[in-house]
Amino acid sequence: MKITEALFAEHLVFHHMFDHIEAVAPQLRTLGEVKTLAALMEALLRNHSDTEDELFIGPLEHCFEQLGQRDAFLEEHRELDGTLRSVRDATRLESARELLLAAVSYSRQHFDREERIVFPLAEGALKDETLVALGQTWMEQRTHVAV
Ligand SMILES: [Fe+2]
Ligand SMILES: [Fe+2]
Repeated sequence: MKITEALFAEHLVFHHMFDHIEAVAPQLRTLGEVKTLAALMEALLRNHSDTEDELFIGPLEHCFEQLGQRDAFLEEHRELDGTLRSVRDATRLESARELLLAAVSYSRQHFDREERIVFPLAEGALKDETLVALGQTWMEQRTHVAV
């Protein structure tokens, strides 16, 4: 499996999670519930973003630089993580809920940009063997986490 296919499959799972968070967020009644949901999203997203940073930024560095996208790509991962971490420090239910929903909305935009720009860029710039080798690394990392 190519790394782009693996990451795209992860995106599909995240899209379902985002739908779920948006559906249940208005009904959450305690700060603790919002923080639990945000912590889950933070942990899963960090894992995904770290994989992208590790497996994409290196091999695609020259392409990102040409497009002036390298810093934007890293910055969006940091920004996302920062918004979710700020839910941890929230002391009011409403502000925590707003931050969580803002993080979901920002994530959707980020994922969309990756699917429209970054994944096709990788498919065009890297050889199939490289994409498959990176996919194998992804598989080994995921297997390692699961054991
Ligand atoms: Fe990403
Ligand atoms: Fe992604």
